[in-house]
Amino acid sequence: EDLTPIKDVYEDYFLIGNAVSAKEFEGNRLELLNLHHNLVTAENAMKPGYAFNDQREFDFTAEDALVEKALAEGLKIHGHVLVWHQQSADWQHSDENGDPLSREEALTNLRTHVKTAVEHFGDNVISWDVVNEAMNDNPPNPSDWKASLRQSGWYKAIGEDYVEQAFRAAKEVIDENGWDIKLYYNDYNDDNQNKAEAIYQMVKEINENYAADNDGDLLIDGIGMQGHYHLDTNPENVRRSLEKFISLGVEVGVTELDIRAGDNNELTEEQANAQGYLYAQLFKLYKEHADNISRVTFWGLNDASSWRAAQSPLLFDKDLQAKPAYYAVIDPD
Ligand code: XIL
Repeated sequence: EDLTPIKDVYEDYFLIGNAVSAKEFEGNRLELLNLHHNLVTAENAMKPGYAFNDQREFDFTAEDALVEKALAEGLKIHGHVLVWHQQSADWQHSDENGDPLSREEALTNLRTHVKTAVEHFGDNVISWDVVNEAMNDNPPNPSDWKASLRQSGWYKAIGEDYVEQAFRAAKEVIDENGWDIKLYYNDYNDDNQNKAEAIYQMVKEINENYAADNDGDLLIDGIGMQGHYHLDTNPENVRRSLEKFISLGVEVGVTELDIRAGDNNELTEEQANAQGYLYAQLFKLYKEHADNISRVTFWGLNDASSWRAAQSPLLFDKDLQAKPAYYAVIDPD
């Protein structure tokens, strides 16, 4: 069966991405990756916890190997991620008892980490998730975005400006080198209206402050809607969040799309069709807003390799065969 490449269907709309590790660069996985996608995100390799050797020195050997593979295939690369509360090196912000370092120490570590990584990968990446998942889930008072921030290690050591500080450090390196690399704020439960509002308020304030001193330039170029959805996700909520973010004048990336359905690695026919229907509704929405959407990245190639394998969230099954979800994505209308 000849499958229509997803990337061809959306050529005039946005890039089509996927999350990869080394195993996607071999055999039939590589074939499927190349057929449908033009962008990759490292599923794990470029997370902050993997940027150091045992002596706490920067060591990007594994990252470089993956980047090389992607570039050799002509794939664009989205950098994921510089500042996060998981899969990170906690010594950057906390002492051995888990207590926060001084603001000064932690800020130096944050800036050094961001600058070293951005400088190292240079314009081999088209964009970076500079900060990931800084916001609490469903914050009760979202207009107060500072009170809605997750009490992460970075937050505890540096304070509420750690997000802005991370973006400023990345921007400095990019400007010094004259690179065109888009800087993203990335988060999940993006369809939750309280969370979306808190993110909106944060990006608005940070960008307005920066623009005032920089001829209207943006500091945060994009908002990543991770898009880890499920069968009960209401696409109207996704629309509200998407349109809210676009109203800030930033680009939006759908950065980690998957739709959980079923259980125990099984989908009933009904669940498979419902999953396809929700993928179709989302892609209709994305097409409508394609002028402001830079990429749609799926979080994994097939169900068996997904981080949510038991709930079969992707377009291809364990044998890499196309599911109803694939057919929905290539023809959502
Ligand atoms: C997940 C990976 O898919 C897993 O392999 C890993 O064990 C944990 O992280 N939000 C993110 C991603 O930004 O980095 C996460 O990826 C999924 C949630």
